[in-house]
Amino acid sequence: MGHIQITPSILNADFARLGAEVGRIGSADWVHVDVMDNHFVPNLTFGPTMVEALARSTDVPLDAHLMIEDADDNALAYVEAGCGSVTFHVEAAKAPVRLAREIRAHGARAAMALKPATPIDPYEDLLAELDMVLVMTVEPGFGGQQFLDLCLPKIRRARELMDKHGVETWLQVDGGVSLDTIGRCAEAGADVFVAGSAVYSADDPDRMVAELRARAEAARG
Ligand code: DX5
Ligand code: ZN
Repeated sequence: MGHIQITPSILNADFARLGAEVGRIGSADWVHVDVMDNHFVPNLTFGPTMVEALARSTDVPLDAHLMIEDADDNALAYVEAGCGSVTFHVEAAKAPVRLAREIRAHGARAAMALKPATPIDPYEDLLAELDMVLVMTVEPGFGGQQFLDLCLPKIRRARELMDKHGVETWLQVDGGVSLDTIGRCAEAGADVFVAGSAVYSADDPDRMVAELRARAEAARG
Protein backbone atom coordinates (compact mmCIF):
# COMPACT_ATOMS: atom_id res chain seq x y z
CA MET A 1 0.00 0.00 0.00
CA GLY A 2 1.32 3.45 -0.92
CA HIS A 3 1.65 6.42 1.42
CA ILE A 4 -1.46 8.47 2.17
CA GLN A 5 -2.16 11.16 -0.45
CA ILE A 6 -4.81 13.87 -0.35
CA THR A 7 -6.25 15.10 -3.63
CA PRO A 8 -8.71 18.00 -3.29
CA SER A 9 -11.33 18.27 -6.03
CA ILE A 10 -11.90 21.79 -7.38
CA LEU A 11 -15.46 20.89 -8.42
CA ASN A 12 -16.76 22.76 -5.37
CA ALA A 13 -14.27 25.63 -5.67
CA ASP A 14 -15.17 29.04 -7.13
CA PHE A 15 -14.96 28.45 -10.92
CA ALA A 16 -14.58 32.19 -11.57
CA ARG A 17 -11.25 32.23 -9.74
CA LEU A 18 -9.79 28.75 -10.09
CA GLY A 19 -6.15 29.83 -10.10
CA ALA A 20 -6.52 31.43 -6.68
CA GLU A 21 -8.57 28.49 -5.39
CA VAL A 22 -5.81 26.05 -6.31
CA GLY A 23 -3.40 28.34 -4.47
CA ARG A 24 -5.31 27.64 -1.24
CA ILE A 25 -4.30 23.94 -1.17
CA GLY A 26 -0.52 24.13 -1.41
CA SER A 27 0.07 21.02 0.74
CA ALA A 28 -2.12 18.78 -1.44
CA ASP A 29 -0.43 15.91 -3.27
CA TRP A 30 -2.53 16.41 -6.40
CA VAL A 31 -5.30 18.69 -7.62
CA HIS A 32 -8.27 16.59 -8.77
CA VAL A 33 -9.96 18.01 -11.87
CA ASP A 34 -13.40 16.60 -12.67
CA VAL A 35 -14.01 16.67 -16.41
CA MET A 36 -17.70 16.16 -17.24
CA ASP A 37 -19.29 16.11 -20.69
CA ASN A 38 -23.04 16.21 -19.91
CA HIS A 39 -23.36 12.73 -21.47
CA PHE A 40 -21.54 10.25 -19.25
CA VAL A 41 -22.81 12.31 -16.31
CA PRO A 42 -25.59 14.93 -16.21
CA ASN A 43 -23.23 17.84 -15.57
CA LEU A 44 -20.73 19.88 -17.58
CA THR A 45 -17.45 21.33 -16.38
CA PHE A 46 -14.39 22.09 -18.48
CA GLY A 47 -12.15 20.72 -21.20
CA PRO A 48 -8.45 20.51 -22.07
CA THR A 49 -7.95 24.27 -22.64
CA MET A 50 -9.09 25.12 -19.13
CA VAL A 51 -7.07 22.24 -17.66
CA GLU A 52 -3.95 23.42 -19.47
CA ALA A 53 -4.37 26.91 -18.01
CA LEU A 54 -4.81 25.41 -14.57
CA ALA A 55 -1.68 23.29 -14.96
CA ARG A 56 0.30 26.44 -15.71
CA SER A 57 -1.07 28.15 -12.59
CA THR A 58 0.18 25.63 -9.99
CA ASP A 59 3.15 23.45 -9.07
CA VAL A 60 0.83 20.79 -7.63
CA PRO A 61 0.37 18.04 -10.24
CA LEU A 62 -3.08 17.58 -11.79
CA ASP A 63 -5.12 14.39 -11.46
CA ALA A 64 -7.76 14.42 -14.22
CA HIS A 65 -10.93 12.40 -13.62
CA LEU A 66 -12.62 12.03 -16.99
CA MET A 67 -16.36 11.50 -16.68
CA ILE A 68 -16.79 11.54 -20.43
CA GLU A 69 -18.37 9.19 -22.93
CA ASP A 70 -15.59 9.11 -25.53
CA ALA A 71 -12.62 8.47 -23.27
CA ASP A 72 -10.67 6.49 -25.90
CA ASP A 73 -10.52 9.48 -28.24
CA ASN A 74 -10.13 12.29 -25.72
CA ALA A 75 -7.95 11.12 -22.82
CA LEU A 76 -4.62 11.99 -24.44
CA ALA A 77 -5.64 15.65 -24.71
CA TYR A 78 -5.46 15.78 -20.91
CA VAL A 79 -1.97 14.28 -20.87
CA GLU A 80 -0.96 16.93 -23.40
CA ALA A 81 -2.66 19.60 -21.25
CA GLY A 82 -0.15 18.75 -18.52
CA CYS A 83 -1.93 16.28 -16.23
CA GLY A 84 0.34 13.90 -14.34
CA SER A 85 -2.43 11.35 -13.93
CA VAL A 86 -5.41 10.64 -16.19
CA THR A 87 -8.36 8.52 -15.06
CA PHE A 88 -10.92 7.11 -17.49
CA HIS A 89 -14.13 5.31 -16.55
CA VAL A 90 -14.11 1.64 -17.51
CA GLU A 91 -17.85 1.93 -18.30
CA ALA A 92 -16.95 4.45 -21.01
CA ALA A 93 -13.73 2.98 -22.40
CA LYS A 94 -14.05 0.75 -25.46
CA ALA A 95 -10.46 -0.52 -25.16
CA PRO A 96 -9.22 0.07 -21.60
CA VAL A 97 -5.93 -1.80 -22.01
CA ARG A 98 -5.00 0.13 -25.14
CA LEU A 99 -6.07 3.39 -23.54
CA ALA A 100 -4.04 2.79 -20.35
CA ARG A 101 -0.98 1.94 -22.45
CA GLU A 102 -1.39 5.09 -24.54
CA ILE A 103 -1.67 7.29 -21.45
CA ARG A 104 1.48 5.73 -19.99
CA ALA A 105 3.34 5.93 -23.29
CA HIS A 106 2.67 9.66 -23.36
CA GLY A 107 4.19 10.06 -19.91
CA ALA A 108 1.26 10.24 -17.47
CA ARG A 109 0.02 7.82 -14.85
CA ALA A 110 -2.94 5.78 -16.11
CA ALA A 111 -5.96 5.15 -13.91
CA MET A 112 -9.32 3.43 -14.26
CA ALA A 113 -12.48 4.45 -12.40
CA LEU A 114 -15.44 2.30 -11.36
CA LYS A 115 -18.93 3.63 -10.66
CA PRO A 116 -20.60 2.27 -7.50
CA ALA A 117 -22.39 -0.57 -9.35
CA THR A 118 -19.31 -1.70 -11.32
CA PRO A 119 -17.42 -4.61 -9.73
CA ILE A 120 -13.61 -4.81 -9.60
CA ASP A 121 -13.27 -8.59 -10.08
CA PRO A 122 -13.71 -8.63 -13.89
CA TYR A 123 -10.71 -6.27 -14.14
CA GLU A 124 -8.30 -8.23 -11.95
CA ASP A 125 -6.03 -8.97 -14.89
CA LEU A 126 -5.83 -5.28 -15.84
CA LEU A 127 -4.29 -4.18 -12.54
CA ALA A 128 -0.72 -4.46 -13.82
CA GLU A 129 -1.62 -2.06 -16.65
CA LEU A 130 -2.83 0.61 -14.22
CA ASP A 131 -1.08 3.08 -11.93
CA MET A 132 -4.28 3.67 -9.97
CA VAL A 133 -7.82 2.36 -9.58
CA LEU A 134 -10.52 4.85 -8.56
CA VAL A 135 -13.42 3.39 -6.61
CA MET A 136 -16.25 5.96 -6.72
CA THR A 137 -18.09 6.26 -3.41
CA VAL A 138 -20.96 8.31 -4.90
CA GLU A 139 -22.63 8.21 -8.31
CA PRO A 140 -20.40 10.52 -10.36
CA GLY A 141 -21.69 13.88 -11.49
CA PHE A 142 -21.86 16.23 -8.52
CA GLY A 143 -19.96 17.27 -5.44
CA GLY A 144 -21.49 17.32 -2.00
CA GLN A 145 -23.26 13.95 -2.14
CA GLN A 146 -23.46 11.46 0.70
CA PHE A 147 -20.75 8.79 0.98
CA LEU A 148 -21.98 5.31 -0.03
CA ASP A 149 -20.90 2.74 2.55
CA LEU A 150 -21.97 -0.01 0.16
CA CYS A 151 -18.72 0.67 -1.75
CA LEU A 152 -16.47 -0.30 1.19
CA PRO A 153 -16.39 -4.05 0.38
CA LYS A 154 -15.19 -3.19 -3.14
CA ILE A 155 -12.35 -1.09 -1.70
CA ARG A 156 -11.34 -4.07 0.45
CA ARG A 157 -11.61 -6.42 -2.53
CA ALA A 158 -9.52 -4.14 -4.74
CA ARG A 159 -6.81 -3.99 -2.07
CA GLU A 160 -6.87 -7.81 -1.77
CA LEU A 161 -6.45 -8.22 -5.52
CA MET A 162 -3.61 -5.68 -5.60
CA ASP A 163 -1.82 -7.52 -2.79
CA LYS A 164 -2.40 -10.86 -4.50
CA HIS A 165 -0.79 -9.61 -7.71
CA GLY A 166 1.96 -7.69 -5.94
CA VAL A 167 1.28 -4.54 -7.97
CA GLU A 168 2.13 -0.96 -6.95
CA THR A 169 -1.26 0.31 -8.15
CA TRP A 170 -2.67 3.11 -5.99
CA LEU A 171 -6.26 2.83 -4.73
CA GLN A 172 -8.19 6.11 -4.85
CA VAL A 173 -11.62 6.90 -3.40
CA ASP A 174 -13.80 9.79 -4.56
CA GLY A 175 -17.17 11.01 -3.34
CA GLY A 176 -18.36 12.08 0.10
CA VAL A 177 -14.88 11.79 1.61
CA SER A 178 -14.72 13.87 4.79
CA LEU A 179 -13.33 13.74 8.32
CA ASP A 180 -16.28 11.44 9.10
CA THR A 181 -15.71 8.93 6.29
CA ILE A 182 -12.00 9.00 5.42
CA GLY A 183 -11.09 6.61 8.24
CA ARG A 184 -13.40 3.91 6.90
CA CYS A 185 -11.82 4.23 3.46
CA ALA A 186 -8.27 4.04 4.83
CA GLU A 187 -9.09 0.99 6.95
CA ALA A 188 -10.54 -0.69 3.87
CA GLY A 189 -7.26 -0.15 2.02
CA ALA A 190 -7.52 3.12 0.07
CA ASP A 191 -4.36 5.25 -0.09
CA VAL A 192 -5.37 8.22 -2.29
CA PHE A 193 -8.30 10.36 -1.14
CA VAL A 194 -10.29 12.86 -3.20
CA ALA A 195 -12.22 15.42 -1.17
CA GLY A 196 -14.19 18.25 -2.75
CA SER A 197 -16.79 19.89 -0.54
CA ALA A 198 -14.96 18.87 2.66
CA VAL A 199 -11.91 20.88 1.57
CA TYR A 200 -13.55 23.82 -0.18
CA SER A 201 -16.26 24.40 2.41
CA ALA A 202 -13.59 24.65 5.13
CA ASP A 203 -12.46 28.11 6.25
CA ASP A 204 -8.87 27.01 5.71
CA PRO A 205 -8.76 24.43 2.90
CA ASP A 206 -5.07 23.65 3.40
CA ARG A 207 -5.59 22.95 7.09
CA MET A 208 -8.43 20.58 6.13
CA VAL A 209 -6.00 18.77 3.81
CA ALA A 210 -3.70 18.26 6.81
CA GLU A 211 -6.58 17.10 9.03
CA LEU A 212 -7.81 14.62 6.44
CA ARG A 213 -4.28 13.28 6.04
CA ALA A 214 -3.87 12.86 9.81
CA ARG A 215 -7.24 11.12 10.10
CA ALA A 216 -6.38 8.67 7.30
CA GLU A 217 -2.94 7.95 8.74
CA ALA A 218 -4.44 7.31 12.19
CA ALA A 219 -7.06 4.95 10.74
CA ARG A 220 -4.43 2.95 8.94
CA GLY A 221 -2.61 2.48 12.25
C1 DX5 B 1 -18.08 13.57 -8.35
C2 DX5 B 1 -16.66 13.95 -8.53
C3 DX5 B 1 -15.95 14.17 -7.26
C4 DX5 B 1 -16.50 15.30 -6.46
C5 DX5 B 1 -16.28 15.00 -5.03
O1 DX5 B 1 -18.60 13.11 -9.55
O2 DX5 B 1 -15.96 12.94 -9.22
O3 DX5 B 1 -14.55 14.35 -7.48
O4 DX5 B 1 -15.90 16.55 -6.73
O5 DX5 B 1 -16.91 15.95 -4.26
P1 DX5 B 1 -17.29 15.62 -2.76
O6 DX5 B 1 -15.99 15.37 -2.03
O7 DX5 B 1 -18.00 16.83 -2.29
O8 DX5 B 1 -18.17 14.40 -2.77
ZN1 ZN C 1 -13.76 13.09 -9.23
